[in-house]
Amino acid sequence: MTPLRQPDAQGAAAGNPLLRGEVELGEAHFARIAAVAKREAGLHLPLAKGTLVRSRLTKRLRVLGLTSFDDYCRLIESEDGKAEFEGMIEALTTNVTSFFRESHHFDDLRERVLPRLADTARKGGRVRLWSAGCSTGAEPYSIALCLLEALPQAGELDVKILATDIDRKALAQASAGVYPADAVEGAVPAPMRRHILSAEGGRARMSDAVKGLVTVRMLNFTKPWPVKGRFDVIFCRNVVIYFDNDLTQRVWSGFARLIPTGGRLFVGHSERVTGAAASLFTGCGVTSYERS
Ligand SMILES: C[S@@+](CC[C@H](N)C(=O)[O-])C[C@H]1O[C@@H](n2cnc3c(N)ncnc32)[C@H](O)[C@@H]1O
Repeated sequence: MTPLRQPDAQGAAAGNPLLRGEVELGEAHFARIAAVAKREAGLHLPLAKGTLVRSRLTKRLRVLGLTSFDDYCRLIESEDGKAEFEGMIEALTTNVTSFFRESHHFDDLRERVLPRLADTARKGGRVRLWSAGCSTGAEPYSIALCLLEALPQAGELDVKILATDIDRKALAQASAGVYPADAVEGAVPAPMRRHILSAEGGRARMSDAVKGLVTVRMLNFTKPWPVKGRFDVIFCRNVVIYFDNDLTQRVWSGFARLIPTGGRLFVGHSERVTGAAASLFTGCGVTSYERS
């Protein structure tokens, strides 16, 4: 990373040339941005992320017609700047996702979790799954495809998948359920592909049966969670890696309250349930936990 330099007395970085159209970001401005990102989205931005923050937020400066990070900091710290939080958080979060990502979780879901839940649903019981931090929707639709395989009549039963994220642009794509064909073709197991239809421009879209199982909503983990009832399964993968420890612990404890005994929590490949909630979960596979 290009080292951030100390700002001068005006708060702008001293004498740094602009690189590839980027605007210089000094340490003091970086710290102010990191404080707002932490407050608004629980994001932990160490100084090592300076280059990434500068490059992503330079685009926001352009959109807003601003020429310095000093102006940007003043904006996001002002009453008028609240409207920019969304743009800033969208720019700073990472939305990387894919169908059947970390496929061992879907093997576990299909082989050990869904047979039991399908049975519950067939007997008239309530079944809820949550893709928390769903990004553009590949994760909740992968869950829906597995669900339809285990329970083709899921749409007529009390079975729902909640898909939430902080990023409205990502949620718009999740709601549309349309993806580049190559993002779907190789990843979705062959028998499930009958639920993938062709869309304009050679793209792929989720069938109504798949979309009908998924409810897409905005949810920011730093604010109260507008979720109702308990969840038999929660996928929260590759989300808390971006959070500070305080928010991470609140997320794990929140999940422990929402998952009944025997329910499952799947986390990302570099994540582990730690802290007070750890004693409430038992590891049952790679980055997979059962609520004790
Ligand atoms: C790397 S994606 C993970 C997508 C998916 N779970 C997967 O593993 O493929 C991380 C997601 O977390 C979301 N996110 C970041 N901060 C959040 C917050 N405070 N509340 C809710 N979602 C957040 C981001 O918008 C992003 O879509």
